[in-house]
Amino acid sequence: MIGGSSRIVSNLVQVRVSRICKHFGGVVALDNASFELFAPGIFGFVGENGSGKTTLFDIVCGLVRPDSGSVLVNKHDITTWSATRRGKFGLGFGRSFQHPRLFASMTALENVLVGYPFSKGTSWDEAILGRVKYGEQLSSARDVARQQLDLLGLGDNERSYPAEMSFGQRKRLEIARVLLEQPRFVWLDEPFSGVEQGLVTRLAELLTHFSESASSGVCIIDHRMEVVRDISTRLFQLHNGKIVELAQS
Ligand SMILES: Nc1ncnc2c1ncn2[C@@H]1O[C@H](COP(=O)(O)OP(=O)(O)OP(=O)(O)O)[C@@H](O)[C@H]1O
Ligand SMILES: [Mg+2]
Repeated sequence: MIGGSSRIVSNLVQVRVSRICKHFGGVVALDNASFELFAPGIFGFVGENGSGKTTLFDIVCGLVRPDSGSVLVNKHDITTWSATRRGKFGLGFGRSFQHPRLFASMTALENVLVGYPFSKGTSWDEAILGRVKYGEQLSSARDVARQQLDLLGLGDNERSYPAEMSFGQRKRLEIARVLLEQPRFVWLDEPFSGVEQGLVTRLAELLTHFSESASSGVCIIDHRMEVVRDISTRLFQLHNGKIVELAQS
């Protein structure tokens, strides 16, 4: 019996992935992948193209079902939990994607607002559409969302639509939204990919600060070791669906 959403979220410190296997037809995407993480920390996941990194995050986040193995959060087995159940129990996971998933018909500010933790029982669309009823709350939410855009170097893009933004800007916009949710564990798929060179260091510092201030686990995929090595407290390498932890110098 689960004790309720607040308990899971407030105490979420441990994610345990055990012996995950996943095939796509004849392709072995994951082969007995196991690891255990404790928040806070920054956890890097590196590996060549096709080594299974995205599939691993998809399974941990409930978007893909593994053939076998389990995902435990604070000892609760969430392997087969649907997205709805995860939301209902406030699992505290956030996710960004290799190819950013944004709302095309919404401005950058509105896209970030989606991540704003409106009070219980108020969904983001109710809050955004019900301007009168939620007016005050929405006004402060907008201020917070603007600050979040500024932090990600997107202060001038508030009214831009995703199609008007570069790939790197869209990556940063998705991260802005995800971090606003204050996840206890955040799973970022290649967050530095496409991000303008001058902003990579700033983004790395932001993620480090987020992990420390929110006591969260920040899990980062990149296929370039040099990108994540310096900011990661632990580093994992995938190769042909197998995962090993690398010693940190
Ligand atoms: N939905 C799918 N259908 C078929 N094969 C898939 C599917 N998803 C992933 N694969 C295959 O599983 C393997 C692992 O893919 P995955 O996307 O997890 O790798 P990755 O490490 O994220 O690669 P990249 O660095 O290119 O993003 C690859 O061979 C890929 O082609
Ligand atoms: Mg990938």
